[in-house]
Order: sequence, then C-alpha cells, then structure tokens
Amino acid sequence: RRLEKFVDELPDMPRLRGYGVAEGGRLVAGNLTIGMYDTTWKFHRDLPPTRVFAYGTSKESATVPGPTIEAMQGVPTYVTWTNHLPARHFLPWDRTLAAASPRTGGVPTVVHLHGGVQHSTSDGHSLAWFTAGLASTGPHFSPPPYAYPNRQPPGNLWYHDHAMGLTRVNILAGLAGAYRVSSPAEEGPLRLPSGAAFDRNLVLFDRDFRAADGSLFMNATGNNPDVHPQWQPEYFGGVVCVNGKAWPFLRVARRRYRFRILNASNARFFRLALSAGLRFLHLASDSVYLPAPVDTGRFLLAPSEIADVVVDFAAATSNTAVLTDDAPAPYPGDNNVDTIAVMKFVIEEEGRRRSSSEHDDPSRVPARLMPQYPRPDPREASLTRRITMYEYTKNGTDEPTHLYLNARAYTDPVTETPAEGSTELWDVINLTDDNHPLHVHLAVFAVLEQRSLRGLDQFKDCMVRRNDAGACGMERHLAAGRRHDAPRQERGWKNVFKVRPGAVTRLLVRFKPLAESRFDFDVTTGPGYVYHCHVSVLPAPTSLLLNSATHRGRDSFLQILDHEDNEMMRPMKIVRSSI
Ligand code: C2O
Ligand code: CU
Repeated sequence: RRLEKFVDELPDMPRLRGYGVAEGGRLVAGNLTIGMYDTTWKFHRDLPPTRVFAYGTSKESATVPGPTIEAMQGVPTYVTWTNHLPARHFLPWDRTLAAASPRTGGVPTVVHLHGGVQHSTSDGHSLAWFTAGLASTGPHFSPPPYAYPNRQPPGNLWYHDHAMGLTRVNILAGLAGAYRVSSPAEEGPLRLPSGAAFDRNLVLFDRDFRAADGSLFMNATGNNPDVHPQWQPEYFGGVVCVNGKAWPFLRVARRRYRFRILNASNARFFRLALSAGLRFLHLASDSVYLPAPVDTGRFLLAPSEIADVVVDFAAATSNTAVLTDDAPAPYPGDNNVDTIAVMKFVIEEEGRRRSSSEHDDPSRVPARLMPQYPRPDPREASLTRRITMYEYTKNGTDEPTHLYLNARAYTDPVTETPAEGSTELWDVINLTDDNHPLHVHLAVFAVLEQRSLRGLDQFKDCMVRRNDAGACGMERHLAAGRRHDAPRQERGWKNVFKVRPGAVTRLLVRFKPLAESRFDFDVTTGPGYVYHCHVSVLPAPTSLLLNSATHRGRDSFLQILDHEDNEMMRPMKIVRSSI
C-alpha cells in the first residue's frame, strides 16, 4: 500500500527562545534543558505512530525534528542536553564498527551544534558521548551545560547527534533540529519576509517505514555482511519527510515566504525545483548570508547543507506548486532519475485577490544583504594542506568496506593543526566515485576552484601506493583538467561543500571568526574539533582499522582484520598562533 501524498499539513516545530528578556527589555543569556526521549511520532495520517528518539523539553512535547532554537547574536545560550533513552537502540547497531561502548548499556548520544562557533568542550565531540543519567560517559565528556556564545553572524545552524559510530542511527531515529542565530541588523532593516507564518524552517529527510506497523526501517544486513553484519555505506528511504511529515502540504498566500531548507538526510542529495513557474531567491548558504541574493530555478542540496531562500508565490502560474527533487541517489550516480515530490504548496485564492494591492506584502528582498564580511582572499593563506578521500572495496567487488581521509583512521594521531586566527588552503582530492559533502567544525570556508584530474586512474593507482599527491604529479594531472565553477549561491562563506569525485576542490578555510578578528574563547584547549564527510559520518562510521597508520593498497585490505575505530572523519587541533 502506498502512502497518499499531500494529506498532512506541514507542522512548524516548537520554537524555543535561546535568550531571556530582563527588565527594560535587555536581552540576557538563555538557559534551556532539552531532553532526548524514547517516544513516538506520526509521520503520516495513515501510518501508526512510529517509535523515534526525539528532542524536546519534555517527553510529551518532543518532536521529529526537534524544536527550533531561536538564538540572538551576541547573547549566549546554555543548553543542558539530557539523555532519557532506553538500554538498547531500536535500530541496527553494528558492533563491528568503531562506536561508543558504554559499559553499562544505554544509548550513547552527544549533541553537535553544526555551524556553531563554540569551545570544543561544548562542540559535541564524538567521544564526549553520554548515556541516560550520565551512567556512562565517553573519554572527552564534559559536564553540562553546553555554552553557545552566538558571537557569529546571523544565520542557520542545526543541532544533531554526533556520538562515535552511532551518529547515523541516532539521527535516523530522530535526533536533529534547527537552530537560528538572529540579529537586530537583519529582518527589520532588510525587510525580508518575517514572523512565524512567513519565515519557516523546512527540515528535509528521507525514511523508510514498515507498512505493517509503521516502524522505521533500516536494512539490517550490511553490503559486505561478512565484514560488517549491518553497516550499509548509505541509507536511502523512499519517503520524503518535511518537518517530520511525509510529503506534507502548506497553505500559502500570494506573497513572499522565506524558507530555511536543511537537508537532514543521512545520504540523500536533493535537487530542488518548484512547479508553477516559481523560482528561488537565495539569501544564504549554510550559516552565512550571501553578499547579494542569487536567483535559481533549481539547486542541489547535499546532506547537512542549508539553503535560505525566498519564494514569491505571487508569481505562481497556478493555484498549487509542488517542490520536487530529481537528484540521483547516491549522487552523482546515474542521472536518469525520476522526479519525486517533496511537498506541495496550496496557494490561497483569497490571497490572490488581496495581492492586487501591493501593500499586502510589506516584505522585499534588497539588492545587498549583509555585505560586511571579508571577501575570500587566497593571499591570506599561510599554508596549503592536501586532504585525500579514499574508499576501500572488497576484492573483486564494488562494495565499499570503509572510507578514509588521508589514508588515516579517525583515531590516528592528529595531523591537521591549524593556527588560531590563520587562513589555510585545503586541496581536497576526491579519489572515490561519489560526491562527499565535507564539513569542517568551527571554521568557515570559501570554494576557490574545482578541477577534474586528467588521467585519473593512473593518479589513483599512484596515490593508493604512495598517498603523496606531490610525488604522484597532482599538478600535472590538474593542468589540463576541466574546471567546474561553484554555483553562484555557493560562492559565499560556507561550512559544507560538495566535493566532486575525480577532482581537486580548493577551499580557503578560515580559522578565525567572520565578523571579528579573534575568537573570544580559547580554541586551543579541550578535546579539539573534527572535519568529516557528512554522508559517511552519518551512515558509515566505518570499520576496519588498517594494521598500521600507514596506507595499504586496495588489495591488501583483506589482511586487515582489527575491527576498530575509524570514520571518514579526522580530528583537528587548533594551536596557538606563533605570531
Ligand atoms: Cu553536522 Cu560534525 O557535523
Ligand atoms: Cu562521504
């Protein structure tokens, strides 16, 4: 039985104010307590309530996705994250993966504020996990509350689970939510669509459900079951949910709306378009405003990317508009794909009559947004790093067993040690067949260039043997390679970028705040930060530990049998600047 589309109304998740208001209207720090609960959620009118793990201020009010946290720029938000989860996970938990291993049972969790500029003890390090009642804690645990200074430009963040080896199942179970940093310099002066009705968060993800009981379905048999009984390199579900409802609808007036669209899927890329002749006007990408709005008819959103867009329904050529997706899964994959629905907008007729007078929509989109951020300048870079993405397959098959960055496991000693306040060039060399959305904690980056490698097979062979891009003649392989321009809406400061396969992507990574010259906390202390692929960290907290930290070729992997930590994730330690 197929689920009927467009029968559930799009919910607005509960909004939690991340600040307090003192006498006289002065804003003061906010204190929130947000729990993780074992509860149920209705994903569709015709599905029974589905068991989920959900964030909320109480079990009764917990939602999937979690509440939207509304923070104010410059006003700190303190969150005490509490774990109320049961002794066992309800999703497959592959014990051959490197995962948090609580001695006392329970579901390890830890919350990362994605896009947030915070001290590493509040960053949700994957080894800072804890179980219910703090019965077990990971080696980097730090006691609550987590402190989010919000001293960063206004923009869109999100919070999600980051526990070692369990991120993919914890997020799939429901542990993700939106977080906004607002500023008085923003909505009012810019006159963008504002207020709860016209400025909405859309959290997109795909899921599969068992028809019989509505439970979340995750394939419990791995793609290489003799290596990992349950690990699959990517999770794809056939049902697209927005704000936790399968293919919902939203009634809108013929006017402008602002949508902050987050792709919270484990692995699915969305290539979004609207029917009825509607287009998107991009205001921001990830957590930072663009200098000027960018108009598109269709755009690609990788897992954990955020597009902040305005849609003007006054321009609709009919009374309904459907938001659609036609991205291959996995991406880029085979481009012969069906267009699938995401959600539907029902454009109210009453609104049409009203819109004949312009005054009904006081919003506008100015030609300049927040122009005060520094422009990316490669001359600022103090050094160049090379980050190589490898995927290892089982002999004679295409089935991946694990993925590594720089041929190193997550638990190998830190090699990326940027100086606080510095800017670096990162050449990200993708030797896999898939596009990997790369995310760097703490920093923001700008894409300078993407170029395909010529003679890729030869270069790969050399890299598999030597893991040394210089010795393998990277510059020679790039010289005649095709250039791929980043889409215009992705040319600002970002925290996730889609790293194209068979190419080198050059990022300018900024280890200092965008709007200020220094971090106002010590970034060099605590457990440190990480950078990782946002697909693989979710569904693929991989597998086999290579016997040594050195790189082995594809053919040797079968000799590698220690089952230990590793993900397509690496630690990053910020060091004190010598200048
Ligand atoms: Cu969305 Cu390590 O984060
Ligand atoms: Cu990946």
